[in-house]
Amino acid sequence: MFGARCLLRALRSCTSAPCPRPKPSARLSVRDALGARSTNGERVKVQGWIRSVRSQKEVLFLHINDGSSLESLQVVADSSFDSRELAFGSSVEVQGQLVKSPSKKQNVELKAEKIEIVGNCDAKDSGFVHIHTPIITSNDCEGAGELFQVEPSSKIKVPEENFFNVPAFLTVSGQLHLEVMSGAFTQVFTFGPTFRAENSQSRRHLAEFYMVEAEISFVESLQDLMQVMEGLFKTATMMVLSNCTEDVELCHKFIAPGQKDRLEHMLKNNFLIISYTEAVEILKQASQNFTFTPEWGVDLHTEHEKYLVKHCGNIPVFVINYPLALKPFYMRDNEDGPQHTVAAVDLLVPGVGELFGGSLREERYHFLEQRLARSGLTEAYQWYLDLRRFGSVPHGGFGMGFERYLQCILGIDNIKDVIPFPRFTHSCVL
Ligand code: 4AD
Ligand code: MG
Repeated sequence: MFGARCLLRALRSCTSAPCPRPKPSARLSVRDALGARSTNGERVKVQGWIRSVRSQKEVLFLHINDGSSLESLQVVADSSFDSRELAFGSSVEVQGQLVKSPSKKQNVELKAEKIEIVGNCDAKDSGFVHIHTPIITSNDCEGAGELFQVEPSSKIKVPEENFFNVPAFLTVSGQLHLEVMSGAFTQVFTFGPTFRAENSQSRRHLAEFYMVEAEISFVESLQDLMQVMEGLFKTATMMVLSNCTEDVELCHKFIAPGQKDRLEHMLKNNFLIISYTEAVEILKQASQNFTFTPEWGVDLHTEHEKYLVKHCGNIPVFVINYPLALKPFYMRDNEDGPQHTVAAVDLLVPGVGELFGGSLREERYHFLEQRLARSGLTEAYQWYLDLRRFGSVPHGGFGMGFERYLQCILGIDNIKDVIPFPRFTHSCVL
């Protein structure tokens, strides 16, 4: 599989102009290559996307697939072919001889004589498969009831029935759908519109915003997850700074002088990590008077988050292990006590507060079953519980609000100023 950007890049690099070179080899699909009867050194050309790369001292193994078959074709190449560009997701054209494979795992393999990269899949994709999660959904992922319900505007024939037979809503998160897909592709992401019927006119809440979400199978610790979050923030920011220098500088000059230095400070330091319990202790000892008194078991407010970031020297800080009672049913139980927590992680950044929210997911059937039962959600989330019955693996993921990200890097105080058509309580202009 490949990321959508890689697909687009690969498509863009195609040309409709006739190819002047004579075609040296017969073009075969992966399916036809795998089913080839004669393997007497026939020269062929196969095009597809790299599904795996295994580099050994003298030999390089690639598995490529073009969607014509579930099985991939093994390409065996001399190690001199090895290059950074031969990575998961890149599209390639391989010419060589189709030969009988010495391994029992496959009948034939392609002995490469020439490998051409058609489209790179660079490191920023890191093997994450882009999933388009639905905008209309029947689940309330966050369990907070902040949903916009979707109904036909005019009464359909049977007015007492729902259009979809079940109540349907605009999505608050694509996470649960990503969890399904991470069971197939290991690392997945989505980027799309997200909706929250929060009654808030704050400087960091919108009713419609964009969220980047990632879900990763076989993740066993928050540490691993935090590494991906920090990497995403830093890589994306460095790319924006180097590719859109003039736009960013214009913003900084007129709106947030000094923001470039603040960003560089964030980029060059390792992000910090504190637990929710430590965060509450820090807040309790603060000389500042808060509108909301900090207390264990109560959610952190924006004023608390901003204080914590300042306290940490304006370096982004991960706050981990929140009280179980504050977080949604899907977060993994830390089985601690007497203060019972879950493996949640929020990333707080200067000027904004919470930018990322994520967690390890509860992959253990009986734990999840009990959590769902306690929240009265067993019936609605039977399908989600079933994911834990068939090859469940430890996994985790996160979401990052895109408008909040823009606020953070551009130094813009109010979220309504980073998009042209902000939607929030009492306002849906145009
Ligand atoms: O913390 P949240 O609610 O997490 C989730 O939705 C998870 N299901 C994500 C996941 O694990 N796949 O939201 C994630 C981020 C927040 O940290 C914030 O940046 C942004 O989404 N966000 C909002 N941005 C603008 N307006 C709002 N009303 C937002 N609510 C959340
Ligand atoms: Mg959150």
